[in-house]
Amino acid sequence: MAEGRHPTLGIGDSVTLGDLEADPDPILARMRAEEPVCFVPALDMWLVTKWDDLMHMEERPEIFTANTEPSFLARALGPNMLTKDRPEASRTRDAMLPAFQAGGVAGRFASEHLVQMADRLIDGFVEDGEGDVMASYAGPLSAGSLAAALGLDSHGWEQVWQWCKGLCSDIANFENDPELTALGDRARETLGRAIDRRIDEITEGGEGLSAIAHFIAAETEDGPLDRAEIVNNVRLMISGGINEPRDGIGLVVGTVLADQQLLDELVAEPLLWRKCVEEVFRLHSPVGTITRQATCDTTLRGKTIPAGSLVAGVIRSANLDEERWSNPGQFDLHRSEGGHAAFATGEHRCLGEWLGRQVVRVGSLRLMDRLASLQLQSDRPITLQGFEFRGPAELPCRWDRP
Ligand code: HEM
Repeated sequence: MAEGRHPTLGIGDSVTLGDLEADPDPILARMRAEEPVCFVPALDMWLVTKWDDLMHMEERPEIFTANTEPSFLARALGPNMLTKDRPEASRTRDAMLPAFQAGGVAGRFASEHLVQMADRLIDGFVEDGEGDVMASYAGPLSAGSLAAALGLDSHGWEQVWQWCKGLCSDIANFENDPELTALGDRARETLGRAIDRRIDEITEGGEGLSAIAHFIAAETEDGPLDRAEIVNNVRLMISGGINEPRDGIGLVVGTVLADQQLLDELVAEPLLWRKCVEEVFRLHSPVGTITRQATCDTTLRGKTIPAGSLVAGVIRSANLDEERWSNPGQFDLHRSEGGHAAFATGEHRCLGEWLGRQVVRVGSLRLMDRLASLQLQSDRPITLQGFEFRGPAELPCRWDRP
């Protein structure tokens, strides 16, 4: 970025990644009120914090390209559908999406295996009477579900979870910490080899019940997907499809357990669980931003964003925008103000949203059905952490042993 092209005095000058990871909401609220399009030197990035401006970014990919340079995502995963714009990105996205919808592999996994996977995990800790629901349940269920849908379950959820952690620490490495880059490199290489082996096994054995098998068999207008396209995009799925359902389960369970009136309403009317999950996604936005690059000088709210700047459309801020939502900081089960942006809204809208929603809703509901006495450990307050990926660090609970 050319020196001197950014404003020097603004809210962003004193903001660090650590501040945003610890407690982003007061900073974002101030930006929405005083400087909704704000350059943050520590991130070398503009933050766009209002709902309407996030929608503007989503609707104008020719100005806000996903094909960024540098690209944290391409560095950590290899080029993938989220590092390209349409029509280039459509080839892989259109070929891969059906596997993650209700009629595809994900639908089959959700109807035949999800509850059993949840039950096996609960059976493993039910006798303990207390524990951290994030570590013993939300993480394993989330990693195990995606691994099973992809056909990588033979590696075990722990390994898949480690890959995800390694990749994500590099993707969110806005300050270019070399240790995090090294972690990411290791995860990228070992996961890449595992996907490669799986492709070989499927090609040799003709196995047809996993998303990876679907990707191998998929036909596009320019022929089948090539190996690198499959490997890089499966890396994208592992980096983007585990933290979020994990955080989603923790956020939903934590929200419901902290509010007896809400719990009573859900017990009386289980169909409200869907609304509960959506409101939790709006209020907490497990994925913080969409990151794009300005293709030309562009003016938003009177600020000129120079061509080449990285621009983060802040989903969590848009989902709390006072001009879009009434009492945005309040959980409201009966909110009827339309859809949120937690899964994004533009051409890169989440590919795994159907599966993600199932894992969060079914996972939360099953845990609370099985452990009817589940309660938060009142002496250990829930703390949320992270900016790009935000959720509870732990969810210490207790319950009656069977
Ligand atoms: C349940 C919680 C989830 C949330 C809140 C979430 C959120 C998001 C968001 C906000 C984006 C857009 C990113 C951007 O435009 O920069 C996205 C994209 C994506 N998500 Fe998710 N996600 C979730 C679950 C999943 C799952 C389970 C998968 C597994 C396959 C997945 C795979 C993807 C992929 C591949 C993309 C890129 C799509 C594209 O570039 O066209 N996500 N997700």
